[in-house]
Amino acid sequence: MNDGGKATLGDTRGRQFGPLGEVLVIIPTYNEAENVQPIVGRVRAAVPEAHVLVADDNSPDGTGKLADELADADDHVHVLHRKGKEGLGAAYLAGFRWGIDHGYGVLVEMDADGSHQPEELPRLLTALKGADLVLGSRWIPGGRVVNWPKSREFLSRGGSTYSRLMLGVPIRDVTGGYRAFRKETLEGLGMDEVASAGYCFQVDLAWRAVKKGFHVVEVPITFVERERGDSKMSRNIVVEALWRVTTWGVGDRVTRLRGGARHN
Ligand code: GDD
Ligand code: MN
Repeated sequence: MNDGGKATLGDTRGRQFGPLGEVLVIIPTYNEAENVQPIVGRVRAAVPEAHVLVADDNSPDGTGKLADELADADDHVHVLHRKGKEGLGAAYLAGFRWGIDHGYGVLVEMDADGSHQPEELPRLLTALKGADLVLGSRWIPGGRVVNWPKSREFLSRGGSTYSRLMLGVPIRDVTGGYRAFRKETLEGLGMDEVASAGYCFQVDLAWRAVKKGFHVVEVPITFVERERGDSKMSRNIVVEALWRVTTWGVGDRVTRLRGGARHN
């Protein structure tokens, strides 16, 4: 599955991948006042033709207003104001819908805190030319994490491994949040049925993509822990992820034991 640091799955025989279309980088924010300007600036410099959508959940620290100022000064920058904190997954789903409604062909997920380096985005986009979904991966050869405490690395690797075994998805970094989707992939995933609010949203979408037979490619990335502001990771988010992944995994096994179709 690993070829030169890239893990691939899904059958591509006979597949033609169309041109990519316009790129929208969606950056969800909750209290990222110190980070929003630097990250938007880095995306604009790294991939000048890409547009940026900041999806802000009415951050009390004024991130939304700062984003508005960036949008006023740059026609490639847009802001989606949401009424309150509803979780990363909900912010991304709203951002995907906004992007599809506005005609973008590629929707990218990126954290605001600099953990996902915009300078690596061209590599993800190049890989997307021959894929339906590209995952930035910390846990394949060439991928790594900078400045993470051992406890957080353990949680992330453990979460990925548990999800992989429970769901049978052959993806090394299934919880990662640096991703590039073709519009058609999102449209085929059944976004309307996604209920995951927290970070297990990432596992949910990856698993859906695999089940639908989409061609998913992992590309190694260097994830750099944030220097400014606070992580929103919480016990509730971990509990939601464990609970949902376990429920999905058990449900899938029961379906298969009853002879139901696994891939549909
Ligand atoms: N709009 C909105 N609403 N944004 C949010 C919310 C929310 O409720 N919660 C978090 N965010 C934004 C943050 O502001 C940041 O831009 C991004 O989502 C990631 O949040 P962090 O709190 O920095 O996440 P992390 O570093 O702990 O977790 C990262 O790694 C996980 C896997 O280990 C993220 O990349 C996750 O997506 C990933 O699952
Ligand atoms: Mn972070």
